[in-house]
Amino acid sequence: MTPSDVAQGSVQLQGEDAKDAWVDPRLADLCRRAAARGTVLLRNDGALPLASQAPVAVFGRVQVDWFAVGYGSGGDVNAAYTTTLLDSLVAAGVAVDEELAAEYRRWCADNPPPSGEWGQWPRFFEEMPISDEAIERAAQAARTAIVVVGRAAGEDRENVLEPGSFYLTGAEESLLERVGRAFESMVVVVNTGNVMDLSWADRLGAGALILAWPGGMEGARALADALTGAVEPGGRLTSAIAHEYQDYPSAPDFGAEDYNNYSEDVFVGYRFFETFAPGDVQFPFGFGLGYTTWRIDPAGLSGPDDSDGRALRVRAAVTNTGERSGSTVVQVYAAPPAGQTGMTRPERSLVGFTRTPELEPGARAEVEISVPMRRLAVFDDHGVTGHPDAWVLEAGSYPILVGDDVQSTRSAGTVEVAELEVVRQCEEALAPSETFNRMVVSRDADGVPMPGWQEAPTATADLRARIEERLPTEVPPVPGSRIGFAEVVAGRAGIEDFLAQLSIEELADLTFGDITMDSPLGAPGNAGALGGVTPSLRSRGIPAAITTDGPSGLRLATHAALLPCGTALASTWDTALIEELAALHGQEMVAKGSDILLAPGMNIHRNPLCGRNFEYFSEDPLLTGLCAAAVVRGLQSQGVAACPKHFAANNQETARTVSDSRVSARALREIYLRGFEICVEEAAPRVIMTSYNKINGQWAHYNYDLVSTILRREWGYAGLVITDWWMRYAPDPLFPGLADSATRVRAGVDVLMPGGRAHTSTHEEGHDDSIVEGHREAGLTLGEVQASARRVLELLVALHR
Ligand code: BGC
Repeated sequence: MTPSDVAQGSVQLQGEDAKDAWVDPRLADLCRRAAARGTVLLRNDGALPLASQAPVAVFGRVQVDWFAVGYGSGGDVNAAYTTTLLDSLVAAGVAVDEELAAEYRRWCADNPPPSGEWGQWPRFFEEMPISDEAIERAAQAARTAIVVVGRAAGEDRENVLEPGSFYLTGAEESLLERVGRAFESMVVVVNTGNVMDLSWADRLGAGALILAWPGGMEGARALADALTGAVEPGGRLTSAIAHEYQDYPSAPDFGAEDYNNYSEDVFVGYRFFETFAPGDVQFPFGFGLGYTTWRIDPAGLSGPDDSDGRALRVRAAVTNTGERSGSTVVQVYAAPPAGQTGMTRPERSLVGFTRTPELEPGARAEVEISVPMRRLAVFDDHGVTGHPDAWVLEAGSYPILVGDDVQSTRSAGTVEVAELEVVRQCEEALAPSETFNRMVVSRDADGVPMPGWQEAPTATADLRARIEERLPTEVPPVPGSRIGFAEVVAGRAGIEDFLAQLSIEELADLTFGDITMDSPLGAPGNAGALGGVTPSLRSRGIPAAITTDGPSGLRLATHAALLPCGTALASTWDTALIEELAALHGQEMVAKGSDILLAPGMNIHRNPLCGRNFEYFSEDPLLTGLCAAAVVRGLQSQGVAACPKHFAANNQETARTVSDSRVSARALREIYLRGFEICVEEAAPRVIMTSYNKINGQWAHYNYDLVSTILRREWGYAGLVITDWWMRYAPDPLFPGLADSATRVRAGVDVLMPGGRAHTSTHEEGHDDSIVEGHREAGLTLGEVQASARRVLELLVALHR
């Protein structure tokens, strides 16, 4: 793409700016394809694709004030360019009602949307008033209307159950109602970062309804492609949409400032609906239409064989039964084994999927999906199977289903597990310290499943003893030695020898980032630096690694590509496309000076109101984990580092730095940690970011069980762990005399980002000296500090080799 192409968008950059906004055309092209493929067509009475040359009247200010991205660190990219839907439709040759378009352009120019301070982002933009006469006039000239409704999403701000957020405003409702009445067909575009209430779709006569997630710089063009039929809207929902907010299982326990009991336990999203209330679903998980129709026939189930972690092979024959070419997603679900009595399970769990190639009308393809048996296992956190703290496959006959979405499946056969198998024995970790009622399957007199309740098992492990028993061994100090870091990078000296010569102060310094964001050590606008951030470390040749946000593109002072948001990417269900796109994004990182991308965001969509859902992929951990792995593999193929975040259970923005996510060990393993586990196994991210919130009483950035017991010891993660930006200071609950960063390093959280040594819980002002003091006075061992410092050095070696 050249600067002159940039000027085709509504952002017209000049001179140096335009040069600086150059985007690799291959990346722009993939963004456009991914945004279209992630656009979810929810209903279509035939109004789409738009008939060529037919006049169309476009209503709603969001056609001009398009939401290309959300707000906050996952959004504030200095985008190379963006386009609006109106411009994109015009550029695509759609015969839009020009008088109406001119009125919207004029009004939007006179009434620019508010920009909003951090955390006070506008949730919607006030609609342009429009008279009945103007609507009537437009309806004389066109049979089809498009109405565009938009919602922002953003960090540090929740969506709320109010008009203009989860609900339509009066003005939007009136617009939809009047346009729906006046036109023969109405296409409603919902351009939103979060799922909003769609219960009005029938009542207001939305003949076609399409969800356009913030698709980045190419998002509006991609939507124009999908509306005109140049490509099909290929998205499938990554989270179920209920008829009403109150239907969501997390609704009663969401948004509290002090703590939230995750009482729905593993019954998150579709796992709840398909088990207890399929009728509450307006649009099921995995659902999405294209412009053709499909027949998916199960074509065999074999295995488990010995390869790929004992995998089942699920085959399906896919036929394009419609009149246009297209591709679809074949989804594989497991149901609970018949008659099982031990662990209660959701009626459906996604265990595999694949996107078919593009198929011509009438064409048939056979696909094979590999499903490791591990995906059928559950985590027993209360010993009901006789194997506490283990992933188990209970004996029984497991139905395997294939289909288009979670509610449209056919049996592919069953898998027999002759006797209970322990898939992996773990240890008790991260269990709640106080119990609460968690959801299980109970049955009424007719055997119909209904929610029942059981006390979540509480922690019994002696965490203090566990930490003391597992202290890392120490590298004996060799003061005075001067091995330069370049020697280590070149492979002429070992990391241990380098580490041995560092003083406790230098080791401690390696566990802090540079003091501020926008570190002078890196490209302007970076999110902070780590590694060689002090003169003493730099004198040893240790370079700095530069971090930048984030999931939607490089957040730097310079212009950068603005990518489709996480939900848009995941809605493609196309991990190959995601990986290809991420690899090109990795090249942009190299070109613009970013070593570590603070992405992907991979928290679970637990509740539709969470302000950052747009950055995240799905309510399902498998889809989340595989999408994240694709991003990580793509980025890291270019020699840079990805940093999946926020580990873990960061499922709301309200009081995100203090609220406690109280979750059973089972729901943690099966839902909230599982995506991270898959990502670690499949893609070995070089860095992981902890979350701000507490998990079962302890902040993630001080959480030994989270980071050391589960992530490192159980999953074998060898990379670096950093905090989210600044952390809460607190005394150590287990070790008197330790606090703040000493507790952090003891937990295995290597680097406090971006530094912030100015405040501590023990000193009002001054440095966070807790590591050096903790080492000299309160038992923090040299080995623990060295372990964190070593991981920083290992990352730097990997980045510079
Ligand atoms: C966010 C992170 C982000 C960091 C740096 C925090 O507020 O939670 O996701 O990477 O800021 O901008």
